[in-house]
Amino acid sequence: MEKKYKNFKIVIKENYDSTSIVVADIIAGLVNAKSGGVLGLATGGTPVGAYKQLIAMQAAGKVDFSHVTCFNLDEYHPIAASNSQSYKYFMKDNLFNHININPANTHIPDGMAEDVQAECAAYEQKIAAAGGIDLQLLGIGSNGHIGFNEPASAFSRETNYIALEASTIEANARYFNSPDEVPKHALTMGIGTIFAARRIVMMITGAAKANIAEAAILGYISPQVPASILQLHPDVTFVLDADAAKNIIPRIT
Ligand code: F6R
Repeated sequence: MEKKYKNFKIVIKENYDSTSIVVADIIAGLVNAKSGGVLGLATGGTPVGAYKQLIAMQAAGKVDFSHVTCFNLDEYHPIAASNSQSYKYFMKDNLFNHININPANTHIPDGMAEDVQAECAAYEQKIAAAGGIDLQLLGIGSNGHIGFNEPASAFSRETNYIALEASTIEANARYFNSPDEVPKHALTMGIGTIFAARRIVMMITGAAKANIAEAAILGYISPQVPASILQLHPDVTFVLDADAAKNIIPRIT
């Protein structure tokens, strides 16, 4: 199902794999349409299927990343790039090592930065110097976070250094040996940085995300649900599987 709803687009597919294909096609479409395109990328479980698709598409000669620049949303702090739980490691393992992107064109906030404020400012400058983000891929946390912008009393503007919520530490502990090992802080693009992307694609899958998907896409716009701000973006597509969309389908059809 594909539906124009208010000023955004909602695409609902049967399952995780078909959702991943839609997202990969959107990303490949941008890369093929614009030489030197700038992608904003996400980590987490959600985009792995889309990254697998992109790897297969490149192997089949359907997409070429040689002129692409990309910026990831976020990174834990402190964490070494060599740590297998760092987002830098994740991106190499799940995408960069398997496509023809120039490693010099892949950017992730430095999880070992000593001066975190300087690192945040430098990251903003790098995005601006690249001409801004053409297409930003997003997942959503069960608490509505995007990047690591946790529910708050105000929307953050630029890349910033944040304390992770207990629920996020708990959700991400599955990747670490124990919750104690999950870093308590992170560097993340701000809501303003994300919102400045010319186009946004948010991928949401699984029944566990059904309530937050409904709140983010159809609920009140509030910094308590950071993703809800996307309802105001001029070019946003929400791509969901049927499980994640189960509360939304009856409300939009
Ligand atoms: C990751 C990120 C996070 C995730 C979110 C969902 O770079 O920015 O906002 O998108 O935590 O994670 P998964 O996909 O693991 O459910």
